[in-house]
Amino acid sequence: MKVSVIGAGNVGATCAEVVARGNYANEVVLLDIKEGLAEGKSLDMWQTAPINYYSTPITGVTNNYEATAGSNIVVITSGLPRKPGMSRDDLISVNAGIVKSVTEQVIKYSPDAIIIVVSNPLDVMSYCAYLTSGLPSNKVMGMAGILDTARYRAFLATEIGCSPKDIQALLMGGHGDTMVPLPRYTTVAGIPVTELVAADKLDAIINRTINGGGELVKLMGTSAWYAPGSAAAQMVESIVRDEKRIYPVCAWLTGEYGLSDVYLGVPAVLGKNGIERIIEVDLNEAEKALLHKSAGAVKEVMSVFDQMNA
Ligand code: NAI
Ligand code: 2OP
Repeated sequence: MKVSVIGAGNVGATCAEVVARGNYANEVVLLDIKEGLAEGKSLDMWQTAPINYYSTPITGVTNNYEATAGSNIVVITSGLPRKPGMSRDDLISVNAGIVKSVTEQVIKYSPDAIIIVVSNPLDVMSYCAYLTSGLPSNKVMGMAGILDTARYRAFLATEIGCSPKDIQALLMGGHGDTMVPLPRYTTVAGIPVTELVAADKLDAIINRTINGGGELVKLMGTSAWYAPGSAAAQMVESIVRDEKRIYPVCAWLTGEYGLSDVYLGVPAVLGKNGIERIIEVDLNEAEKALLHKSAGAVKEVMSVFDQMNA
């Protein structure tokens, strides 16, 4: 399968490298608007192939969408990242224009592609790509839940003193301050997390997860890329290999969880058709209220986007 990554910045380059290194795609194309950037990074990556033992060809191009023609999967990472003091929603005015024009070009050359959006504000940029592409909703999704869950799992592993591999967790909702980590659906090698972590420590970890992106922006002056790029690549892998992995995915809801007409993070099966199924887990009243609050927050930003496009 052919995979194109739009935006050769921090997240896009990391995603392209992880996909190529995984050896499951036939070809990776990396595209950026900045002259020479994608070409240079692709060449550098290709020179790691003999060291890291993979054969996936990687091509870098400057704004040449013909090179992306016939892509099966396109990951959109183009757009501004956050600076300290900015929220993800502050990026909407610039990034909506970028994601819209990129999606138009992507669809022109790859009308059957599955699109994975990474650009922020994530839930609303997924909505933008969905409206612009005209694709069915199973083929347009956003990456955020794998990243947010990975942060939660990593913090828990550090607290417990165990391997992050043994932490299974579910986190739902929008990619922002209203995301909903679910301790009731968090286990450590099958053991409920509440048996291993005291309530006050768990609350602190949940709070740190919710602010996990901001913590990194403060440290680095820009947003994270290793975990985001790897998370997007993990979605690509499940689709390319038709693995049917279950991940938290930003998906278009049509009644699931009592919510409609909103892009929101929910557990979903990812396979060769994109989102093959949204899984509805049983939420208690408090969890449901948090999820609906999160949907409300995303809908507010969606309406800002709708007004920009009215
Ligand atoms: P970056 O600044 O390192 O890279 C962005 C790249 O997009 C730049 O190389 C730029 O030249 C390119 N670009 C801008 N306009 C373009 C266009 N019209 N066509 C093609 N390329 C274009 O930023 P970074 O760190 O890679 O972040 C990218 C986006 O991903 C940001 O919006 C950021 O907020 C978001 N993000 C989302 C995450 C999530 O969980 N969904 C996690 C991390 C970042
Ligand atoms: C993150 O959570 C900024 O959305 C990006 O790291």
